[in-house]
Amino acid sequence: MKTQINLSSKKTAIAASLALCALAYAPEPAYAEKIHVSTPATSLVLDGEKGSGLSFLYYGSALSPAEIEALDNTGAAQRSAYPFYGNFPEHESAMAVTHSDGDMIMDMAVEDISRTKSGDAEITTVTMRDKFHPLTVKLNYKTYPDADVIETWTETINGEKGNVTLRQYNSGYLPIRRGDVWLSSLYGSWANEANVETEPLTHGMKVIKNKDGGRNSHTAHGEVMVSLDGKPRENEGRVIGAALAYTGNYKLRIDTDESDYHQLFAGINEENSAYNLKKGESFTTPVLALTYSDEGLSGASRNFHKWGREHVIHNGKELRKILLNSWEGVYFDINEEGMANMMKDIAGMGGELFVMDDGWFGGKYPRNNDSTSLGDWTVDTRKLPNGINGLLDEAEKNGIKFGIWIEPEMTNTKSEFYEKHPELVITSPGHEPMLGRGGTQVVLDLSNPKVQDIMFNMVDTLLTKYPRIDYIKWDANAPIMNHGSQYLTKDNQSHLYVDYHKGFAKVMDRIRAKYPDVTIQACASGGGRANYGFLPWFDEFWVSDNTDALQRVYMQWGTSYFFPPVVMGSHISAVPNHQTFRKTSLKYRIDVAMSGRLGMEIQPKNMTEEEIAQCRKAIAEYKEIRPVVQQGDMYRLLSPFDKKGAASMMMVAPDKNEAVFYWWKTETFHGQQLPRIGMAGLDPDKNYVVTELDRIDNEPLPYEGKAFTGKFLMEHGLEMPLDHNVDYHKRNDYASRVLRLQAK
Ligand code: GLA
Repeated sequence: MKTQINLSSKKTAIAASLALCALAYAPEPAYAEKIHVSTPATSLVLDGEKGSGLSFLYYGSALSPAEIEALDNTGAAQRSAYPFYGNFPEHESAMAVTHSDGDMIMDMAVEDISRTKSGDAEITTVTMRDKFHPLTVKLNYKTYPDADVIETWTETINGEKGNVTLRQYNSGYLPIRRGDVWLSSLYGSWANEANVETEPLTHGMKVIKNKDGGRNSHTAHGEVMVSLDGKPRENEGRVIGAALAYTGNYKLRIDTDESDYHQLFAGINEENSAYNLKKGESFTTPVLALTYSDEGLSGASRNFHKWGREHVIHNGKELRKILLNSWEGVYFDINEEGMANMMKDIAGMGGELFVMDDGWFGGKYPRNNDSTSLGDWTVDTRKLPNGINGLLDEAEKNGIKFGIWIEPEMTNTKSEFYEKHPELVITSPGHEPMLGRGGTQVVLDLSNPKVQDIMFNMVDTLLTKYPRIDYIKWDANAPIMNHGSQYLTKDNQSHLYVDYHKGFAKVMDRIRAKYPDVTIQACASGGGRANYGFLPWFDEFWVSDNTDALQRVYMQWGTSYFFPPVVMGSHISAVPNHQTFRKTSLKYRIDVAMSGRLGMEIQPKNMTEEEIAQCRKAIAEYKEIRPVVQQGDMYRLLSPFDKKGAASMMMVAPDKNEAVFYWWKTETFHGQQLPRIGMAGLDPDKNYVVTELDRIDNEPLPYEGKAFTGKFLMEHGLEMPLDHNVDYHKRNDYASRVLRLQAK
């Protein structure tokens, strides 16, 4: 259904205003329209007038029609809702083009405002047209009745006689009123993803960007939180959150100029990516998701989590299986007996799925390390004489599901595939490809439809031949190197970064159309694909190749700013940890892994009986709390980045009848004083019975089995002993608690 508003007629506009906007009766300017984009708790108000620009008036908590009508839409209150380059080139712009006649000015005016329904969602579209050229840009705003997130994106349609070149093409723009405004963003590196960085916004430009080509969340992240009332707090203060949902290179800019606003721009990274639109062609940008909360950072996170689970993440509302992944247990040493043993072991602990990682494939070149065989996706029967079916039978015998690792976007120069198809990899014609992981890894050119077919067929063959495969770990371990495509024309070499991801989307759409039920994990050298752009096709992502429980407290904390636990692969691994060589207690490792999508990344045969029993118990307990952990509301309480010696957060069921409280010590000093933590998100009037999970202490905690009101727990909190009451030889410097709270 599409409602069209003809702005040339004030009468029509008034009739439509109930559905679309609160009409301004101010005599000046004559036909100004206030466009209200609303979610249950938030409002975005724009001001449009046919024949002139589109202004931004307001973004924040929900406004009444009277408040919208009273909003000032004159003079300084009018800021562009999406600045186009050309007439005021001294300011930053959201979009810049070169028209077919060489003109670089975009003189865009509102032509039409419409509202369409897409299922439950509503899309408000402001169509803008250049005054001098037949170039159209549609600014879209999509909302859902049950989520406080506004999705915004643009579509540019070239009606000109020749090529239009997009030189900058942001998904969205938001002016943020200055004050004591702080930015929280994520930064990191391989095995050190999603660290929170917090800073006041000052004059100049803050740029957060990615140029990897294929993976976009190891270093910076394409999401930010902006706290409007001073230093960011978890459960208080007004916060705007922005998440660019894209699989490729992005750029977020926050420009603080001489005006009263910080200006947020977000979109595809335009560097080396000028995009030519032929006559009649259009270009749609990825979505920028915006949220607003007056319940602090945690409130903004809850908005993203809910929107993500309900509307973005593949099967976001379903519970995830508890798995054992083979990587850190055996690395490339895949063989039938080893896999069978691991399957038996995880089944014995109550796990539900086994995932065979890298090393299972290869013909002429066996995949014994990372330098060969990508592209040769045939099972290596020297290692697995009974093939995948043998493993699937074994899994079935153990009553668990089976998953498998693949890396479809890549090949090695040492592979049968590359020997046959050197023309299908990314490289500039005439240049030898640059080599990545293992000294031989190269990236397939997904801008090429032939590569798209090969990739789809590879996955299709695997899943058709082995329909019992339940889970795929989809990896991507190389950046795009040496810019160039052997497929794209010489005029369109700058399309590579964008067309790679258009190709990726086509492949994933085809896979999902045929295989909606297979769980697919996005992995990319660990946490390189933690972005909402991937999640419509992927059920989860691997947070990091670093499985050290202490560092995971930090990385999972940062990741949770935008992503819910249901998508965070979080595994119990061995000590000394393989990345940091730290020795944490098994309890600590379990208690951290239990706050995400629980799994194991370990060789069970190296575990003691006691450790196996502890994991078996933890898995059984996790099954009890899984709905709350994976589908509940997150309240972060004490940040590890505040360096107070501990970190704490909780998950609360939407009906507030159940909650899980996590507390992890992050350092140990004798005589140290740690803050007592007030809980959050509970019903003050309900009585909650406390049960400790993964208990190792010889004596129960004093409050075990006792009931407390939500009010008491939130105002006062419970005392956490600084260490565990265990036999002397079991003592160590890591303490943690997981408490289950159940309303009586
Ligand atoms: C990447 C992943 C790991 C593992 C290896 C296999 O590094 O992040 O989890 O799958 O590849 O080669």
